[in-house]
Order: sequence, then C-alpha cells, then structure tokens
Amino acid sequence: MKQISIANGSVLNVHDEGRGPILLLVHGFPLDHSMWDGQIAGLADRFRVIAPDLSGFGRSTFRTDFDQQSPVTTMETFADELAALLDALQVQQKISLCGLSMGGYIAWQFWRRHRRRLDKLIVCDTRAVADPPEVARGRQLMAQRVLEEGAAPVAETMRPKLFADATHNRSPAIVAQTVQVMLDTSPLAIAAAQNGMAQRPDVTSWLPQIDVPTLVLVGQSDVISPVAEMRDIAAAIPRAAFVEIAGAGHMAPLEDPAAVNAAIAAHCAG
Ligand code: MLT
Repeated sequence: MKQISIANGSVLNVHDEGRGPILLLVHGFPLDHSMWDGQIAGLADRFRVIAPDLSGFGRSTFRTDFDQQSPVTTMETFADELAALLDALQVQQKISLCGLSMGGYIAWQFWRRHRRRLDKLIVCDTRAVADPPEVARGRQLMAQRVLEEGAAPVAETMRPKLFADATHNRSPAIVAQTVQVMLDTSPLAIAAAQNGMAQRPDVTSWLPQIDVPTLVLVGQSDVISPVAEMRDIAAAIPRAAFVEIAGAGHMAPLEDPAAVNAAIAAHCAG
C-alpha cells in the first residue's frame, strides 16, 4: 500500500500494483479498496490496478477543510480527489475507471468533470437517478445515528442487501469480511458520504452524452440497483455493453471475481 498526499490535504491509502493500461477501481459504500481484492489478484498481470480508499474510508484521511461538525463529502468532491490522486501519481495517460454503486455515482461525476482523462468506463451495480426526498431524508437520519452510535446500524441495514442468497450460503467468509469492513469504517466517513449521496443529482440526462465505451455490469440478484434499471442505463449510453453476472448480488465483483474480471478485461481490450 502507498500513502499518497493529494492537493486538498487528504492522504489516500492506495493499492497500486501491476503494469499496463491503468484501471482505477472505486469502491462502494461503506467499504474500502479491499472489495476489489479479486480484481487486483486477477487483473494486475494485465493492468496497472489503482485501488484507493476514498477519503475518510479505510486508512485514508479527510481533506484539510473537512467540517467534522457538518460532515458532507459530495460525489463531485470524491471525483476531484481521484483526479488529484492521478496527478499525485503523475499519471499522464488516459485511464479506465470502474466504480461500484457509490463508486458509480462518483464515476458519473468523474466523466462530467475529468473526461479528458477517461479512456473507458465501467459502472457496476449503480444508479443514475437521484434519491427521492424520503430516501434522502433517511440517509440524513442514518448519518446522524451513526455519529451517535457508531457504524453498527449502517452495517446491519446494508448486510441483508449486499449479497445474493447463494453467496450467503457458499461464501459466508466473504459476507463476514465485508461486515467487518463496514464496522471498522469511520462514522464520520459514513455520515459524510450518506449526506453527499443524499444530495447527488439525477444524472439520467447525461447518459446519452457519455461518449466513452462503457461497460454496465450488474449482479443478477442485486436488490439495490436492479437488473432492469441497469439495463435501462446501458440502453441510454451510446457505446455501452451490458453484462449480467449470474448468481451474484450487489457485490458482484466480490461474489464472482472470475466472471467480473473476464468482463472487465474484454471491455478494456476492445
Ligand atoms: C453502495 O453500495 O455504495 C451503496 O449501496 C450506495 C447507496 O447507498 O446508494
């Protein structure tokens, strides 16, 4: 792991391994880079895989002007931090960016704000719509609760939604590891991201303008970003491919790394 200082004062904990075209992996909420262990293991022979902990998550620190009294990190800020990370790593070439769920919300913003840096896009198990007001309000309440009680309530809420039933039965260790990552996540980071997601925009109208080859990937049993919704996202993006991962849920890259790696490798080779 490397600790990389970026322009806004955050120090990002980054797994940076391999040689070749750059694949930047952006984790979901409330997780860290380790959700991509199967992609690092399976793809670092062909790609330079860069997998950071987003600011505040894992072992990464917050930016200097982070307001602990009123914690918010917007998807725009996360996207700008990724661009600053590429600057700090002196990456000149275009990259492929792969984001899961909240990482996908960040990917839309990265495309919008830093598209000259993008070669290809991969959005996994994510959404383009904004939250309806009652969902946004629920996030703000959960942010407050986590600040008072710690990460447990969010881990309990997320646990039943993340994996396909088959994964709970076949790979309980993966489920247990993921729950532990959630429990170890900083309550401030959880609150900041919940508040940031609550105010994210609806990006549906951007989709027809996305002009980089895009892979839209979803676990067949995803209950957070369902297959039909992701199929619609793929249909709206001009140069999109759509891949459904059988037997997986929201955490498809963890649940079936071989199938996900094959889809990413094929997309990036094309
Ligand atoms: C994620 O996996 O990143 C979350 O499900 C995103 C969300 O809460 O909308």
